[in-house]
Amino acid sequence: MNEWIRVCRADEIEEEDLLRWDHGDHSYAIYNTKKGFYATDGYCTHEKQHLEEGLVIGMTVECPLHQGRFDIATGKALSPPVCENLKTYPIILKDGSVYIQLGN
Ligand code: FES
Repeated sequence: MNEWIRVCRADEIEEEDLLRWDHGDHSYAIYNTKKGFYATDGYCTHEKQHLEEGLVIGMTVECPLHQGRFDIATGKALSPPVCENLKTYPIILKDGSVYIQLGN
């Protein structure tokens, strides 16, 4: 089922910032960028480090542990030591809230 699940109010995530969102046994990172809202897996693909304390720089997020960078929109690994992409998830805004689709 590709249902939309409410994450939070849009104004709970400051611009150029991200929010950790845990759901079930999985953790996600929800971003508010100048180009809109995006979602990726919460943990870096290098080691088990959550991106919640990471730095959002334009459309990239920098991991706080070894400063590997990912493209927020595509999840693509952009700089060492990360080489495995992050999984991304569809996001929509509706009535001032952020919704994520976890299916597939
Ligand atoms: S844990 Fe993220 S770059 Fe190493």
